[in-house]
Amino acid sequence: IPGNEDAGNIKEIEGYLATLAEPTYGTQMQDFAVSGHSAEYRLQIDYTEVPVTLSGGQVVSLRHPTYTAADLGYGPLHPDAMLSPRVTPQMIGLGLLEAIPAADILALADPNDADSDGISGRANIVWSQEYNMPMLGRFGLKAGMPTIREQSAGAFAGDIGISNPIFGDPFGDCSTIQDACVNAPHGAGDVRGFEIDAEGLDLVTFYSRNLAVPARRDADTPEVLRGKQVFHETGCADCHQPSFVTHRLKDQPEQSFQLIWPYTDMLLHDMGEGLADHRPEARATGTEWRTAPLWGIGMTETVSGHTQFLHDGRARSLLEAVLWHGGEAEPAKNRVIDMPPADRDALIHYLESL
Ligand code: HEC
Repeated sequence: IPGNEDAGNIKEIEGYLATLAEPTYGTQMQDFAVSGHSAEYRLQIDYTEVPVTLSGGQVVSLRHPTYTAADLGYGPLHPDAMLSPRVTPQMIGLGLLEAIPAADILALADPNDADSDGISGRANIVWSQEYNMPMLGRFGLKAGMPTIREQSAGAFAGDIGISNPIFGDPFGDCSTIQDACVNAPHGAGDVRGFEIDAEGLDLVTFYSRNLAVPARRDADTPEVLRGKQVFHETGCADCHQPSFVTHRLKDQPEQSFQLIWPYTDMLLHDMGEGLADHRPEARATGTEWRTAPLWGIGMTETVSGHTQFLHDGRARSLLEAVLWHGGEAEPAKNRVIDMPPADRDALIHYLESL
């Protein structure tokens, strides 16, 4: 729910959009529960198909979702509750994204669109629980988390209720109203202090940091090279920044001083009403999302067994994902709609090669 300006340390971050946990359900709604407890809700999704006609006559249908929190297990939601359904983003190359110098990301930000190219790009600045200070947000769909360790700790606590040195509540995201959850057995009295201790958290962080990026496939075929040219000419690279060079990191040779190709500027962009969730996160507004990295995206079907894209998985193909782009990306999207069909195919083949 919308928060108030007095909460916590957020006054130290300019433009911070405070939110508070929903009083009964907390910060996340869970549609499953451990045995003996009620699930918090069931996410009901109703889709409306809206056709888009492309040059050459191809028609692509975009499914517009409407979300309803149904079968509420613990009473009504707060009237101001903001619901932002999300799917899990890819977890490859995270250590490399963490190793991009903050200065290089900030140098790409153009919050007031000073160069008048229609693309602004804002850094999310978040409060780090781990370092107890404001930091550049990098991870999560709105760049709401500063480090892989804090993202992992937040997931242990919020997603699966496992206390840890950064987020210590043994009952995770349950609110005090959910007393069966609060009073259920937990590991707070364990000799290690938390349900996962610092050593365990560090191992999971190390693992997440080192999941590799797949090698490109078919990068040099004429079709893919044409698609690459279209990607650049269409303005995709204005947000999907192709490359960075990582920091020199003494203790992390595997991430140190590498030329990487993530295709993200790590910044927030207004993507328009169509993609808006109307739920702010730190400095990110209800219409902003962090540019999704595109490396490895062509392997989604092989690795994850589906081709669903965007923050809530509404796009059923790469082409649908592109056609959902609005806001700052509206002109790029329109160029894709208007371009010769062969260029569009080449663009998609290029994405599949990443
Ligand atoms: C104004 C910045 C911007 C521009 C320009 C832009 N994108 Fe994006 N792109 C984003 C953001 C932000 C997202 C994440 C949106 C979401 O999840 O709702 C995204 C998501 C995507 C995705 C889905 C990724 C995933 O993992 O789900 C694809 C594919 C994509 N963009 C391709 C393109 C292509 C191709 C172009 C050029 C035609 C383009 N984008 C232009 C910002 C941009």
